[in-house]
Amino acid sequence: MDRLAIIGGRPLFGEIAISGAKNSALKLMAAALLTDEPLVIGNTPRLADIDTLLKLLEQHGAAHTFEGSTLTLHARTIASTEAPYDLVRKMRASFNVLGPLLAREGKARVSLPGGCAIGARPVDLHLKALAAMGAKIDLDEGYVVASAPGGLHGAKIDFPFVSVGATEHAMLAATLAKGETVLTNAAREPEIGDLAQCLNAMGAKIENAGRSTVAIQGVERLHGACHEVIADRIELGSYAMAPGVAGGEVFLRNGRIDILGAAAGVLEEAGVKLTQEPGGIRAKRVDDRVRAVNIVTQPYPGFFTDLQAQFMAMMTVAEGVSVIKETIFENRFMHAPELARMGAQISVDGQIATVRGVKRLKGAPVMATDLRASMSLVLAGLGAEGQTIINRVYHLDRGFERLEEKLSHCGVLIERVKGEG
Ligand code: EPZ
Repeated sequence: MDRLAIIGGRPLFGEIAISGAKNSALKLMAAALLTDEPLVIGNTPRLADIDTLLKLLEQHGAAHTFEGSTLTLHARTIASTEAPYDLVRKMRASFNVLGPLLAREGKARVSLPGGCAIGARPVDLHLKALAAMGAKIDLDEGYVVASAPGGLHGAKIDFPFVSVGATEHAMLAATLAKGETVLTNAAREPEIGDLAQCLNAMGAKIENAGRSTVAIQGVERLHGACHEVIADRIELGSYAMAPGVAGGEVFLRNGRIDILGAAAGVLEEAGVKLTQEPGGIRAKRVDDRVRAVNIVTQPYPGFFTDLQAQFMAMMTVAEGVSVIKETIFENRFMHAPELARMGAQISVDGQIATVRGVKRLKGAPVMATDLRASMSLVLAGLGAEGQTIINRVYHLDRGFERLEEKLSHCGVLIERVKGEG
């Protein structure tokens, strides 16, 4: 297993191009199953998670070409409506093929994704939404067996709490349902708007995506389209924090302040100045150290959970005490003990972490535990004195495209060490 070696303590100066959002691309790829015509998805990041879904789509009958960052998917016919455990367990987002397969073929058998490192992560809301649209759903040996021989129909679906995946899943399925579907308490993440834009370009009729109430008028069929994936707000927010930790100034090409939601204000409050310029955002630490800020993770536009670990890394070297409350996932502080190995002062009590900022961290060998936690260790390493070795880099490869190359461009001493880890 590969490792990353970072020599910290050097400010960053330079430009980082922000890639297309992994979490949007994955759902756009699932949309390709809704049509027998090609779907061209530009600005697709080259990541392990994308490859995982490509394998699954391939066995459903979707051919693909990947040139540069342009992914073309063509599901002329559906070869299989079964999504096997071996492919779904690797990545939860694979579960989102269920709705499109059901909408197009009237049936699907998709493995339940199971839990993951950050928590139990059930899919009950996904299933309730599909059932409300007329699907008959059974569970059989770890698989969801769904059928709707006469097709899905429109429904009023009121989510009891906000779920990104369930909102997207319901939207995907409702495009081909008979009649109108109305989603209330829908997720408002920028990726929801991105998915709706793509589906509308394919002939769907979705209104108000990105707001709490979304209306989808079902259509007979969808056709091919070209769509560019929205910039990755998680990658954007992570790199915006790099000068916060290590000092310096970076230009984040393709970045937009508006997709950062509450995180933009939090960064400013902490002393990372963000300036929107043509083509991207400039991020700069204003003082010698950032300041402690308290945060509570919330559905978008609140401070997103996918930036919590990175923010904690920045708070480890802030002036003052920061209180971080995680409300979305029950087990998302696994980076705390790893940061502590580098000298961070963090105490965790249930869903609340209290971080007492220190002047500087010290490099150490640490272990990446999940995708975003891994990025928090990278950030910590940038500001730390000496060498940080991050083990289990495959987590990072799932969601941060060309990380070493991007950071090296800004003067970071970072290298991938092949082999044991
Ligand atoms: C998406 O996961 C993202 N993944 C996650 O990013 C992100 O952390 C999360 O949204 C929250 O923003 C992708 O887009 C591929 P949810 P998702 O449904 O859709 C509970 C990353 O690092 N829930 O909004 O699975 C759930 O357990 C990943 O890129 C149910 O109880 O998240 C969680 O506590 C990690 N039943 C909360 O809702 C359900 O049926 C929100 O989850 C669905 C969700």
